[in-house]
Amino acid sequence: MCGIVGYIGNRNSQEILIEGLKKLEYRGYDSAGVAVFTENGLQVKKAKGRLAVLESQLVLTPLNGTAGIGHTRWATHGKPSDVNSHPHTDNSMKFSVVHNGIIENYMSLKEELTAKGHNFVSETDTEVISHLIADIYDGDIVAAVQKAVTRMTGAYALGVLTEYEPDKLVAVRLASPLIIGVGEGENFIGSDIPAILEHTRNVFILNDNEMAVLTRDGVDLMTLEGNFIAREMFRVDWDIVTAEKAGFDHFMLKEIHEQPKAYRDTMSSRISPEGDRITLNELSMTPEYIKDINRVHIVACGTAYHAGLVGKSVIEKLARIPVEIDVASEYRYRSPIITKDTLVIVVSQSGETADTLAALREARRCGARVLAITNVVGSSVAREADDVITTWAGPEIAVASTKAYTSQLIAFYLLGLHLAQTLGSQTPEFIAEVITAMRHLPEQVETILGQAETIKAFAEEIAVHNDLFFIGRGLDYAVAQEGSLKLKEISYIHSEAYASGELKHGTLALIEEGVPVIALATQRDLLEKTVSNIKEVKARGAHVMGIGVEGEEELKKAVDTMFQIPKTLDVLSPALSVIPLQLLAYYASLARGNDVDKPRNLAKSVTVE
Ligand code: G6P
Repeated sequence: MCGIVGYIGNRNSQEILIEGLKKLEYRGYDSAGVAVFTENGLQVKKAKGRLAVLESQLVLTPLNGTAGIGHTRWATHGKPSDVNSHPHTDNSMKFSVVHNGIIENYMSLKEELTAKGHNFVSETDTEVISHLIADIYDGDIVAAVQKAVTRMTGAYALGVLTEYEPDKLVAVRLASPLIIGVGEGENFIGSDIPAILEHTRNVFILNDNEMAVLTRDGVDLMTLEGNFIAREMFRVDWDIVTAEKAGFDHFMLKEIHEQPKAYRDTMSSRISPEGDRITLNELSMTPEYIKDINRVHIVACGTAYHAGLVGKSVIEKLARIPVEIDVASEYRYRSPIITKDTLVIVVSQSGETADTLAALREARRCGARVLAITNVVGSSVAREADDVITTWAGPEIAVASTKAYTSQLIAFYLLGLHLAQTLGSQTPEFIAEVITAMRHLPEQVETILGQAETIKAFAEEIAVHNDLFFIGRGLDYAVAQEGSLKLKEISYIHSEAYASGELKHGTLALIEEGVPVIALATQRDLLEKTVSNIKEVKARGAHVMGIGVEGEEELKKAVDTMFQIPKTLDVLSPALSVIPLQLLAYYASLARGNDVDKPRNLAKSVTVE
């Protein structure tokens, strides 16, 4: 997500800001900008695209000064563009702000400030902050920021400068990361330690509802009420590469651990304050249109296709609309029957996958309405679809997709419930029950992550094998397919996912002494049947790891190793049961000495057919 860097000292700030932003590139971005105090006052330069675009502009017209803020933007509110890039200013150009996070009440603040004569130029939520601070300011920037944040709801890490007090850089944080770097005669802010590590290893980590006031000679940490905070400085002893991964050995492991946050971010603003309804306000589909949908097509590639497999079940179960699903590279060529009453859902983390984009265009050409589920605002898929549900997973760096997949599942739950509540296909009580269970998912994922050692031990056992099998029924079969793909991608172990009931029709011939089988058995109504299938493979010598809901004693007795996931509704279990499978792939890859984040032959974004 967005990256922030700030500097106040005696050196030329422009280079420090750009170099710092480069260290934050791993967070993902689509535009960048800097604001610097120059002899002509506060000057801003920003540009859509890679940092190199901004850099080349700064070479032509440098911003010379010794204090400034910089930002890489990962679009949320408003497409990637020069004007939507940060820093944002007020109309007087005296205040400048960089922001990471989302201001949820920005629309009402914008209306209020517009009525007072403020003129907004961007589509962003951030621009309201610079106007709000300018509106409140009466000679004390620290007090103005303190007052401004009490008006804002949502998440923010902010860096604020005003030309009225050029010897101060103010930083504040709620629910978005921000660190303060302490140097000699110079101080820094950054979204993450790598941004400043070249200059200092002395760091304060800002907590929620804390702010920092930086001058050239010192840093004051304080609460939003202005009470000073005494905190010990943290001495960073990692190298840059480790720091980018926030202390995790690999991006994939970091991203696996980011899933509780991705779940919360994807669902929180889309659930009514009472917790009983879905509020997908971003969709322009009318209730009349929804009532006329006679079929849904889900189209995607790779892991996104596997999210679609779960999505198919979810929509059929909750909304009772028939759903077909295709891999995007097959869809166009099978002459699918697409009419204006077909809702085509394309799922794509990057929003740039060539086959998915081609399928989207084909669907629109045939008159269908297209809904995109994507992680990248402003991507081709997002721009060309009629409606978009953005997954707020944040940028995914590891080639093997984890948090993007699970956020896509959350998007499907939100959509399934939205359709169900519009169509009246489920009772309000049941919808509220599903929402309540969904809100528990993030902490349940944390519980699973706390048991990673069990998975690691099993992964080390399977790492010596060349073949293994995943089995499951219903939603478990959908998750089994994702587990198998994950393992293949990064461990290079051959694996197959089978519908448990199909085993007898061929695959059972491959089961012999010691072959590992991972059996997913989270669906209570199918449990007995799955246990029978487990017994069939056990009888032929398979070594079985079961993944089931806690308390299922019959399952535990039937398998060699058991991994328990916390209790949830059956329909939601994929959002939990996939986590141990991601960890299994990760640890198996590690045990085989592979390059976990960059597996051989694979690319993160496939933009050729
Ligand atoms: C590549 C990636 C996969 C991803 C697939 C679809 O194969 O390695 O992780 O699932 O593309 O990508 P998309 O960005 O459309 O979700």
